[in-house]
Amino acid sequence: PPRIILDCDPGHDDVVAIIVAHRHTNLAGITTVHGNAPLDRTTYNACVMRDLLDVGCGVHSGAERPLVAPPKFGAFVHGESGLDGADLPEPQAGADSTDAVGFIIETCRFEEGLWLVPTGPLTNIALALRAAPDLADRIAGISLMGGGTFGNRTPMAEFNIWADPEAAEIVFGCGAPITMAGLDVTHQFVLLHERIDQVAAIGSDFTTLMSDLFRFFTDNYISRHDHMPGAALHDPLAVLAVTHPDLFEHTERHVTVETRGAYTTGMTVIDRRDISERGEPNARVLDRVDADAAWQIVLDALASVG
Ligand code: BDR
Ligand code: CA
Repeated sequence: PPRIILDCDPGHDDVVAIIVAHRHTNLAGITTVHGNAPLDRTTYNACVMRDLLDVGCGVHSGAERPLVAPPKFGAFVHGESGLDGADLPEPQAGADSTDAVGFIIETCRFEEGLWLVPTGPLTNIALALRAAPDLADRIAGISLMGGGTFGNRTPMAEFNIWADPEAAEIVFGCGAPITMAGLDVTHQFVLLHERIDQVAAIGSDFTTLMSDLFRFFTDNYISRHDHMPGAALHDPLAVLAVTHPDLFEHTERHVTVETRGAYTTGMTVIDRRDISERGEPNARVLDRVDADAAWQIVLDALASVG
């Protein structure tokens, strides 16, 4: 299995990314970042999952704020705790270190060919690349959840990119192979009520907890959207793009990030022009996912816990 560092801000869909990574990758570590909730809370949530899954790798907390912008959290999607909807067990211990950036740099220098899989704002990854630009040549790539041709946090900006646009600009420009799971593909992967019922029907303590979290996430999503039949399960697609690339159709594109727009800060500018002056591709942009097959993998991973 591929060796990865999962950099996340759990977050309901980040938790699913952790579960899929635990089942289908060789996890070198979980690093946490500000995002859906403040850092202390995303770290707490990652530690809860570490214990529930018995992941066997460390949790390292990282940046509590973006590079430039003030911190902004995602409570309207995930609740104040970042993971509302169920009573979570207390973690047995806190994070193994508070130096996610140092952990990323050391691990990627020690072992060549790792994947970085960020599913939150890109602050930790940008700080690591800034301090150690050689990482871009040492890693297999960066498979991230973020961006798209439309927005969710603002009309044109997706939350993870919007929450730290300067960090995202550094990541897209770093020279490493980038895979981008943006909203265009993640909105094809929806946590429908009948899928939640399948999780509940597995009947373990773990899947009961997960189905409670999923109900909160999906009901909250439906209440905020006019046309979504459930929550988009964004983050596991960044993991599946590494472990199961055949699930996806993609196009190679040049992608940059808007950091100074009056209305568009945090937008990924994807060059889709069909003319020779288009930018040299720096990213594999995921266009389509086989959602039924992806869901079966998630469901099997949930059933395999415990
Ligand atoms: C992203 O923002 C968060 O709400 C999710 O965890 C996901 O990473 C989607 O825009
Ligand atoms: Ca996330």
